[in-house]
Amino acid sequence: MKTALIVGHPDLRSSRINAALLEESKSIEEVYTRVLSELYGTDSIDIQAEQEAIAGAEHIVLQYPTFWYTMPSILKRWLDEVLTRGWAYGTGTPGALAGKSLRIVTTTGGAFDGYGPNGLHGWEYEAMLVPLKATARRLGMAWREPLVIHGVRELDDAGIQRLRSSFHQLLCSHR
Ligand SMILES: Cc1cc2nc3c(=O)[nH]c(=O)nc-3n(C[C@H](O)[C@H](O)[C@H](O)COP(=O)(O)O)c2cc1C
Repeated sequence: MKTALIVGHPDLRSSRINAALLEESKSIEEVYTRVLSELYGTDSIDIQAEQEAIAGAEHIVLQYPTFWYTMPSILKRWLDEVLTRGWAYGTGTPGALAGKSLRIVTTTGGAFDGYGPNGLHGWEYEAMLVPLKATARRLGMAWREPLVIHGVRELDDAGIQRLRSSFHQLLCSHR
C-alpha cells in the first residue's frame, strides 16, 4: 500500500538526520516523497498536485525537524493550503483523507530526558502533538504511533545507521 512521505525540512543541505531518513526512504518502492523545500522553497505550493499526491496514498507520513516545539513553517504552510475545506473536510460526506493513516516522524535537538514536567522543556513531547492529533481526528484519519527521535546531535554514524533501519522497518510496516 502506498505511503506518501511529506518532508518538511526547510534546508536539507544542512540536515544530518532528516536527509539520512529521506535517503533511506528512497529504497522502498511503495513510498513516494514530496520534499517541500525542493519542490517549492518560498514559491506557491501547487495545491492540486499535493492533493493528488496524498489522495493516491493509503498512509501519510509527515517528517520534519522540530522547530520551537512544532513543525517548520514550510510544512505548516503545506497543511494550511492543501487541507482545504470542501476537499479534506466540510464536504458533507467523508473528506478525501478519511480512512487513511497519519504518522509523524520528527527529530529533536533536545534529549528525551528534557521532555517531561520536570525537564528543560516542561512537557512530554506527546503534548506538542495534540494539534496534529486533532487534525487527524477531524479529517477521519487513523493516528499512528509517532516516531520521535530525540537528542539527534548526539547520534554518531552507527546511531544514524540504526535509525535508518528502524525507519525502514516502520515504512515497510505500512504494507
Ligand atoms: C529554529 C530552530 C528551532 C528548534 N527548536 C527546537 C525545539 O523546540 N526543540 C528541540 O528539541 N530542538 C529544536 N531544534 C533542534 C532541531 O530539532 C534539530 O536541529 C533537528 O532536529 C536536526 O535535524 P537535521 O539534522 O535533519 O537538521 C531547533 C532548531 C532550529 C534551527
